[in-house]
Amino acid sequence: MSYFAVKGGTKLIGSVNINGAKNSVLPILAATLLNAGENVIHNCTELRDVDSAVKILRHLGCRITRQGKTLTVDSSNIIRCDVPESLMREMRSSVIFLGPILARCGQARLSTPGGCELGPRPIDLHLDALRKLGATVSIDGGEILCRADNMQGRDIVLSFPSVGATENIMLAATACTGATRIINAAREPEIEDLQNFLLKIGANVCGAGRSEISVQGGKTRCRAEHTVMPDRIEAATYLCAAAACRGHIELRDIRPRHIATVISILSDAGCDIKTDTNCVTIKSARRISALPPVQTMPYPGFPTDAQSQLMAAACLAEGTTVFCENIFENRFRQAGELCRMGARIKVSGRTAVVEGTKQLSGASVRCTDLRGGAALVIAALAATGESRIYDIEHIDRGYESMENAYSSLGGSIKRKEE
Ligand code: UD1
Repeated sequence: MSYFAVKGGTKLIGSVNINGAKNSVLPILAATLLNAGENVIHNCTELRDVDSAVKILRHLGCRITRQGKTLTVDSSNIIRCDVPESLMREMRSSVIFLGPILARCGQARLSTPGGCELGPRPIDLHLDALRKLGATVSIDGGEILCRADNMQGRDIVLSFPSVGATENIMLAATACTGATRIINAAREPEIEDLQNFLLKIGANVCGAGRSEISVQGGKTRCRAEHTVMPDRIEAATYLCAAAACRGHIELRDIRPRHIATVISILSDAGCDIKTDTNCVTIKSARRISALPPVQTMPYPGFPTDAQSQLMAAACLAEGTTVFCENIFENRFRQAGELCRMGARIKVSGRTAVVEGTKQLSGASVRCTDLRGGAALVIAALAATGESRIYDIEHIDRGYESMENAYSSLGGSIKRKEE
């Protein structure tokens, strides 16, 4: 069993290159199914979730090679239209394969994704939208069965701007006759990246980044090449780490406007943050002050995926910070582990009140989920003494060799086996 051994208390100094976005590469890999030919995808980070997506594509019949961070997906010969339960369980977001399999094969069979560490993860918005496009959808014995012989584009109004549902509809709509409009679509940057890939394979899509996306169904081309956008959540994680541990770090290869809310909140807390076209620097010389209330919201609001990491920084702030989690029901699970390190956090439903303390102390803790795990690493790097962080397979789902990034900044963190 692997764990991180962390000796805390060192300032973080240096620069980090930000990797390709996990939440962008997954839908883009799923979208390669729409393009029966060679799809060359650059900047694919080596992550467990990306490996899981590759396994699903191979199971469906794609031929895939990896050279460094470039994945070449040849989806000329698709031989199956199902994703077995074992592969669905590896990656919750594998439901993103539903729309493209249906579009490519006219039918799809996936096991239901079930819940996850963040609470129940319903897919009603995905399924309702596919039904509206003309698919028949049934759920039987834990399996979703979809058939679509002649899907017709139409207006789909989402009751909540779900990221995954928006992506699934965009992908399914490419196979519809006529036009689809997604109203109250999610506006996350990863959706713009998906649109950019779809345009490269010849799909007719516009509006991503705004609340209304239009897709005109039609044929795609045979070869496409795309570079995945930088991971805004990885960038936000290192900003929170710098705020908690103090120091001076530079993040390269990022799009600062994607993390504007994180930059603004950390600036209010006293960090000195400067942005350039593809780069952000943060200097944090003193203990940060309490943060203004943090409300997680769909983009462009504060991202739920950065809430845990910011909470780790708030544990060391001067004063009290209130967090309100509006996206997922169960996203404060890191709080109990942070309290083992001396944090003072009270959770009540969707609200957490964090009373800052001068010092955290090293402890043995367990990752509860991907971003909660990233928060524990931040707390351990800022704490006095040594920590052991277990269950780091959660972290490997979304960060490529996190320990190397922190080590290059002077943090003392080692991956060890027990
Ligand atoms: C994506 C991201 C995830 C991020 C989340 C919110 C990927 C691979 N994952 O997840 O990292 O935390 O966006 O920014 O991109 N909901 C329903 N019914 C549905 C779908 C969603 O009720 O059919 C609810 C969910 O339970 C949740 C909320 O909508 O409460 C947001 O979910 P959604 O935006 O769909 O998140 P994901 O696409 O799963």
